[in-house]
Formats: sequence, structure tokens, C-alpha cells
Amino acid sequence: MIKPLRKAVLPVAGLGTRFLPATKAMPKEMLPVVDKPLIQYAVDEARAAGIEQFCLVTGRGKTALVEHFDIAFELEAMLRERHKDAELKLLHEASLPPGAFVEVRQQVPLGLGHAIWCARAFIGEDPFAILLPDDLVLSQTPCLKQLADVYDQTGGCVVAVTEVPHEKTSSYGILDIASDDGKLVAVKGLVEKPRPEVAPSNLSIIGRYVMRPEVIAELARMDRGAGNEVQLTDAMARLIGRMPFHGLRYEGHRFDCGSKVGFLEAQIAFALKRPDLAPAVSAFLKNYVAA
Ligand code: UTP
Repeated sequence: MIKPLRKAVLPVAGLGTRFLPATKAMPKEMLPVVDKPLIQYAVDEARAAGIEQFCLVTGRGKTALVEHFDIAFELEAMLRERHKDAELKLLHEASLPPGAFVEVRQQVPLGLGHAIWCARAFIGEDPFAILLPDDLVLSQTPCLKQLADVYDQTGGCVVAVTEVPHEKTSSYGILDIASDDGKLVAVKGLVEKPRPEVAPSNLSIIGRYVMRPEVIAELARMDRGAGNEVQLTDAMARLIGRMPFHGLRYEGHRFDCGSKVGFLEAQIAFALKRPDLAPAVSAFLKNYVAA
């Protein structure tokens, strides 16, 4: 029997050095794309995939992320008094049910794999999703839902994948491909940040995963990989052969909001999707570029 996917881990303990000084006192995941912080896009996407329990892996200076999901009692009372119903609705949509949300600490950022291992008590014996909030996907069907549908069929691990330029493989986790039907890729190996000369493909993992709990025992070895960090990719690689393991070429456009260019592209793309903003933004872009 395939266990249903109901849990998600959101690692947010990284330092966000590429976004300094913006991230000196504010977590990268609170940066807004249009009017919603990155963390909320990730939580909304997870809910749309059937996730009911959330674990945020945080570190120092990340309090705002936890507070974002609290009920802002005074603010709500004020909005109610002033009959600001639309704004109240926005707040309600953002909040999570009582008990649906826990926080664990990663005191030292030793790598993504270490961050996931910190959530081991939350994960227990259940399958779980991982969402890296700085990867934002604009799609018809939420990206995690696309992965969850594959998990419901296979019961194994599923990672979202996309092609990257060959010379850029050393920035990503890269798949070694057993077979490929153009959408679903059977995986025979994974390598973190390979140099282009030795990369087995140019298919890279983006920040959406469905994982089986067996990955925790592999992470517990605390092997250091690329960048001397505990790498999730290395632990996942050791699951291949023991359970189904697939890459999914998801439908949608991914923005790397951890990089400045990706973040700016996301602002424009998401604004152009909004009926209230699109006319003004596209008029501005046309005029500005023409000038
Ligand atoms: P990044 O590689 O984007 O690192 O982490 P970062 O620290 O967030 O940003 P830069 O590179 O310094 O600008 C990918 C994801 O893994 C989390 C990050 O919060 C981000 O969601 N992470 C990374 C942790 O939670 N802990 C770690 O030790 C490392």
C-alpha cells in the first residue's frame, strides 16, 4: 500500500548571502514577489498538493517566517473594525490551521541534507515533500501536485527536473538517466555539482521533491559532499535501486529567486499574470524598453 503524502519540510535556514544586504536582518524567504512572500507561495503550493502538516527548518534571524503564519490578532481586529474585508480575507488565506505547523532549528547551516535531517522527528516513518521556497514555479498545475501524482502511482521518490546549459552543471544536482520518455525519467544515479566534463547529463534537480523516509538514515551518516556540506543529493543517490526513483520534467516555468536575475524575472512574470497589474506593468515595460 502506498502511504499518502501529507507532510512537507521547508528548509529555510540558509544564509542567503547572494541577497545581502537585503537578507542581513530579514530572511530571504520573506522577500515578496509582487505582494506575497516566497514562503507563502511554497506553503500554498504544498496545500494545493494535499499537504496538511508543515515543518519549517529555521535558524537564527528567521523569526519573521514563523510569525507570518501566526494569527495577527490586533491587526485582524483593526481590519474588521474598518470593514477591510478583502484584506482580512488575504490574512485568513495565509494562515494555517492550529497544530499544522512546526518549527525545528538547524543551529549551524551545514547543508541542505543536514537541514532535512533536522526534521527527522517530524518525518517519522512517512513520505514527505521538500520545497525550497527560493525556487518559484509558475504553472497551470502546481509543481508539487505534479510530483505528488507521480508518487501516487509509483510510491517512490520523485524529483522535479529541468535541462540546464551543459557548462552550468557544476551549480546543480544532476541526474544519471536510465530511461526517459520525455516527461518521466527513470534515475540510475545522482551527482551533486559535477564539472561539465564528467556530468552524466544536463538534467538538473530543482527545489521540489517527494521523498521516502528511508533518506533520513542515509543523511544520518553525515557524509560531507560538494562544498564540504551534507548533501541531500548524495543521500538520495543511495536510495536508487531500493525503491522507484524518478525525475519529472514538470510543466511550468521555474524562477531561481535565490539569484537576483531570477528574482527580478519572477516579479515581472507574476505581475503580468495578475489582472489588476498586468495592463500597467506591460505598458511600462513597452515604453521603458522603447526609450
Ligand atoms: P542555497 O544554496 O540557496 O543557500 O540553499 P542559501 O544560504 O539559502 O543562499 P546563498 O547561496 O547564501 O545566497 C538552498 C535551500 O536550502 C536551505 C536554504 O534556506 C534554501 O532554502 N538550506 C541550505 C538550509 O536550510 N540549511 C543549509 O545548511 C543550507
